[in-house]
Amino acid sequence: MDFYDKDLVSIRDLDRGQIEELLDLSERMIPYARGEKVKRALDSRILGNLFFEPSTRTKLSFESAAYRLGCDVIDVSEMSVTSMSKGETLADTIKMVDAYCDLIVLRHPHEGAARLAAKFSENPVVNAGDGAGSHPTQTLLDLFTMRRSKGSLDGLNVVLVGDLKYGRTVHSLAEALTMFGAKLTFVAPESLQMPADTFEHLKSRGCTPGKTDELDSVIGQADVLYVTRIQKERFPDPAEYQKVAGTYRISNAVLREAKSDMIVMHPLPRVDEILPEVDPTPHAKYFEQAFNGVPVRMAILCSILGGDI
Ligand code: CP
Repeated sequence: MDFYDKDLVSIRDLDRGQIEELLDLSERMIPYARGEKVKRALDSRILGNLFFEPSTRTKLSFESAAYRLGCDVIDVSEMSVTSMSKGETLADTIKMVDAYCDLIVLRHPHEGAARLAAKFSENPVVNAGDGAGSHPTQTLLDLFTMRRSKGSLDGLNVVLVGDLKYGRTVHSLAEALTMFGAKLTFVAPESLQMPADTFEHLKSRGCTPGKTDELDSVIGQADVLYVTRIQKERFPDPAEYQKVAGTYRISNAVLREAKSDMIVMHPLPRVDEILPEVDPTPHAKYFEQAFNGVPVRMAILCSILGGDI
């Protein structure tokens, strides 16, 4: 795979063939991710995990992926404990961390931060979420989950619901799904619909998604229902958040209209958009999806750092 020493800032950095290779490698990583097999493919390498925004899944699954491969981890979870609190720039911070590790994983509140970091780092940079921008490693684990559940990614009918404006995971995911001929439908209040530039990019790739604010009218056709949290922390005005909070709640009653084999996904964390009563149903894939972050991120680390599995 031609991914050695490369940055992963946007899903646009990958073509369909590269995505499929990463998903195939992720499949081979599953027994290692579960600890059933052991191989220190990245022994003596160091991952620099910089998380300047809260995270449970992305940070810990990168760490788990690294440790499962024998890779050491240095990490920071808050800007306040770095010299950025004394005024050091992100560019200088990245140059320093670059000197201490072999690959940087960065989560940052500002869109474009990962691209800037890639410019200042000699070693590769992986975007672990940049503001409302994108989250390409989440997209890879989302695709992996869909492929494992549905058998193939080709021509899936995918309904994305919730906060499509600020929810960065859906931006990368919609772009990736167009590479596989997906039929996309965006369900959101008008104020939280997919950003125009993403929509236009999808159209330029030959995909014209449907748009509605009514989930009931489209849930019956879906193979995959991808639910997102309303991103309260990204609203400039709390009053605007209150207008849309709780707009969609997936319950067993809502799922009565769905195909029996439709899967429900969510990047998590959830607040109230999927009721706990859905968790034990065969539709619910979101916890399996979160586990899939480990094999997928193992595949990413191995591909970029040149580990052999
Ligand atoms: N899905 C996701 O990015 O979760 P975290 O914010 O917990 O990392």
